[in-house]
Amino acid sequence: MSARPVPRPGILSIEAYVPGKSAAPGGVKLHKLSSNETPLGPSPRAIEAVRAGAGQLALYPDGSAGALREAIGAKFGLDPARIVCGAGSDDILSLLAHAFVGPGDEGVFTTHGFLVYRIAILAAGGTPVVADEVDYTASVEAILAKVTPRTRMVFLANPNNPTGTYLPFDEVKRLHAGLPGNVLLVLDAAYAEYVRRNDYASGLELVATSENVVMTRTFSKIYGLANLRLGWMVGPAHVVDAVNRIRGPFNVNGLAIAAGVAALGDEAHVAGAMAHNDEWLPWLTRALKDLGLQVTPSVGNFLLVHFSQAAGRTAEEADAFLTARGLVLRRVAAYGLPHALRLTVGDAEANRLVVAALRDFLDGKARAHA
Ligand SMILES: Cc1ncc(COP(=O)(O)O)c(C=O)c1O
Repeated sequence: MSARPVPRPGILSIEAYVPGKSAAPGGVKLHKLSSNETPLGPSPRAIEAVRAGAGQLALYPDGSAGALREAIGAKFGLDPARIVCGAGSDDILSLLAHAFVGPGDEGVFTTHGFLVYRIAILAAGGTPVVADEVDYTASVEAILAKVTPRTRMVFLANPNNPTGTYLPFDEVKRLHAGLPGNVLLVLDAAYAEYVRRNDYASGLELVATSENVVMTRTFSKIYGLANLRLGWMVGPAHVVDAVNRIRGPFNVNGLAIAAGVAALGDEAHVAGAMAHNDEWLPWLTRALKDLGLQVTPSVGNFLLVHFSQAAGRTAEEADAFLTARGLVLRRVAAYGLPHALRLTVGDAEANRLVVAALRDFLDGKARAHA
């Protein structure tokens, strides 16, 4: 008998999620480009809603997040009864795994898929199964090849973080068509608002027409509310029912509910954030390629930038160089990408500084000064 409590099997094989860095050396201005947050911040209406809610901190929130589900339903044309809100979409992803995956069961995701999928599957007692990608992009064939009678869930981030790649909706439909009916397909559309491709869809249509598809969304990215922790899912009634049975009774706080409703109402703010990304994502892609860096084509608000393995040119050294100038990017070794950095599209100043700093880095200039 152990002399102290021991976690369930699988828990200690979880590598805890390490968030993007958010500090730079003293004396330099910090530009945080490590967590795919929006440089435009939240809608002023959301900020006002949080201020207005500050007087209610002693009271429990509406545990069903009714006003927010109504607002989401109205905006996306969905039945609010089919929506569940969570403390970030991470909360929802974890709840889904806990509801549908257990010991002996498998959950599938792709090589460079979002790290929370592995954590959620292991935490639920299940076995993570990794499907190969092709050109840093999910492959329907490779995912389907990993499906066995033990598979309970497939997680697909579309677009994916940290690669920025996506699957056209026809491919998502082909994936769904190849899955047995008892496998839940989780379409994680955290970056859906940023995508400008005619062949992309977040998955609402599949959710509406099947019994084994859910879509998750977040307020952390284009809505600029990452700090409040707010996400949601839409799914078939039986999945919603299962998730509602196990979620925390007050898993979304009242400030987040109020801010979410206000943010949804400010379409101009979201349009501004989209326009900013439409301008700077291609600008950064082009500028980094012009420096001779390899950049994976992205449809999100971030870019995967690949570095050489030659001494003086590596991702690790680039990261140190940029950090010394206050430019904090995301190392992605934990995603199986030790030779790349992920760069969030920042404001104009940060974007220009990153390109100038990388030019100096590649030219072998000193760290501290441009
Ligand atoms: C693909 C993907 N899904 C989900 C999330 C989780 O976002 P949140 O829990 O803030 O809603 C993120 C955040 O980085 C993400 O990149």
